Amino acid sequence: MCGIIGFSGATPALPLLLDGLRALEYRGYDSAGVALSGDGATFTVKSRGRIDTLEEKLKAADLPPALCGIGHTRWATHGEPSDLNSHPHTAGAVTLVHNGIIENYAALAHRLTLSGYKFHSETDTEVGAALIDFYYRLSGDPQNSLFAAADDIRGSFAFGVLFEDRPGEIYAIRRDSPLIAAHTEKGSFIASDVTAVIEHTSEYFRPREGIIVKISAGGVEFFDREGQKADCETERVDWSVSRAQRSGYAHFMLKEIFEEPEAIRKTVSPRLSGGLPDFGKDAPGLAELSRFRRIHIVGCGTAMHAGLMGKIFIEKFARIPVCVEIASEFRYRDPILEPHDLVILLSQSGETADTLAALRHAKSRGVATLAIVNVIGSSVAREADRVIYTLAGPEIAVASTKAYSVQCAILALFAVSAALSKKALPEPTARRICESLVNAVPDSIARLLAKSERICALARNYTDCEDLFFIGRGIDSALCTEGSLKLKEISYIHSEAYPAGELKHGTISLITDGVPVIALITETSLCEKVISAVREVRSRGARVLCFATREAARDHTIPCDDLFELDAPSGLPAAFCAATALQLFAYHAAALRGLDVDKPRNLAKSVTVE
Ligand code: AGP
Repeated sequence: MCGIIGFSGATPALPLLLDGLRALEYRGYDSAGVALSGDGATFTVKSRGRIDTLEEKLKAADLPPALCGIGHTRWATHGEPSDLNSHPHTAGAVTLVHNGIIENYAALAHRLTLSGYKFHSETDTEVGAALIDFYYRLSGDPQNSLFAAADDIRGSFAFGVLFEDRPGEIYAIRRDSPLIAAHTEKGSFIASDVTAVIEHTSEYFRPREGIIVKISAGGVEFFDREGQKADCETERVDWSVSRAQRSGYAHFMLKEIFEEPEAIRKTVSPRLSGGLPDFGKDAPGLAELSRFRRIHIVGCGTAMHAGLMGKIFIEKFARIPVCVEIASEFRYRDPILEPHDLVILLSQSGETADTLAALRHAKSRGVATLAIVNVIGSSVAREADRVIYTLAGPEIAVASTKAYSVQCAILALFAVSAALSKKALPEPTARRICESLVNAVPDSIARLLAKSERICALARNYTDCEDLFFIGRGIDSALCTEGSLKLKEISYIHSEAYPAGELKHGTISLITDGVPVIALITETSLCEKVISAVREVRSRGARVLCFATREAARDHTIPCDDLFELDAPSGLPAAFCAATALQLFAYHAAALRGLDVDKPRNLAKSVTVE
């Protein structure tokens, strides 16, 4: 999604803005632009395409040096990616960058046209600029004009705004879109997220909705509606700039997959006490999990797929019924929510608009909410009744990998905790599962990672295909959904995931000579069932790659073309290992196809619009 950056300080703004935009590249974008605030004038350069293209244009434009400016990476929503539709947008005295969607932009544009405004782009953002300018003309006050415009807007926004007659000042306001501010030795910043400023400081502010941020060379200030100074707590990132760098890996995605063993240990260990789950420090009151009669797990994409794993763990260990819901559907289908229900929101970024809306819907219905989120202080984390942070560290690649694995780990631990509180699991069994989550699971993944090149060699056999099917049963069926999404999003190979037993009810008609099928076998009890499905597809010409536990491969003849043995005990270690194996498969397939693995086309890291 769009990234915004703003700087005002004592050093030239342009290099800092470009560095900030590069740090935000991972969010996904198709155009970029900057505006520099000079003495009584604003100079804007913007361009479709990568930041390199913008830089070329900037060199040619030779703008006067400036100590203050704003920048933007755009992920098109209203209007195609083009120079004209790129941000910043100007109307009268106002130049701004925007992340979000102005839903009522057409009605506002109509109103503003009657006041003489003309629009040149197809964007909703240009309407936002005109609306702020309209109120600025009336009041002459930046803060009043921003509050007044915000009142008129239906939708989401984080705006970074320059007023032509206020050089050196940037104003910002947000609703449902992320925004941070920071003061550093060089000057002050606003940005979409802390990655853009981590090089300069580890301390930052995360302004709440309903206040205005003003930055200048002198510092960062916050104002409420009455024009009074408002408070905003300082937050601190607990990771260094090196965590957000590739550190010798070809891609962030590969680096993040390799960080999984550590991320799981780091996430699970602090939630164990005496070898059993203890969420007391994160989510007091959660201990009484037995009171919940039903759980809804809500998320999008990969997070929702982690929810499918959570359903299996919770239903198996704690015997509490779980519905897994796609966040964008949840709020519109009037879900049945009852007093003894718990809604768990899963999100890496904590800023996904659909997940945030689902959380608000659940809260409005008075049910208990729990967020499992990776980004500390993010909107979902703040608004939920309780939060458990996954401690995966920054995830930069658009394709989520380590965040998924830690979400699955925390859900397994949560399931054990619920099982204990319901007395549904004997303590020694609970202890064994917890032990496995901190030892056998990460150790098995680490052994798998050492065989990344073997998975690459296998992936080579499948890089030319157009379509691919994933099959598995039980937990493997849930793992397949994520394996399939990963492959689609970065390699652009069409794929579908099917429970192995369901294939014969329709989709098997697509299996013809040479169609590739990936089969997962980590559940010992279902091994023979999956092998039958493998036979069915092979007898119709499929080329089958099977990821199976060593135990399954030893005890059965698996009729496949390629076999990868997972060196992991069956149960949780094998399941987590299979998840990582499919991530590596997708990674290598995409890299072998020469694709931009970390920035797949059309995708954004944090989807902050509906
Ligand atoms: C993951 O690979 C995807 N890019 C995407 O499905 C993602 O998981 C989804 O948008 C949810 O994001 P969140 O976890 O930040 O809420």
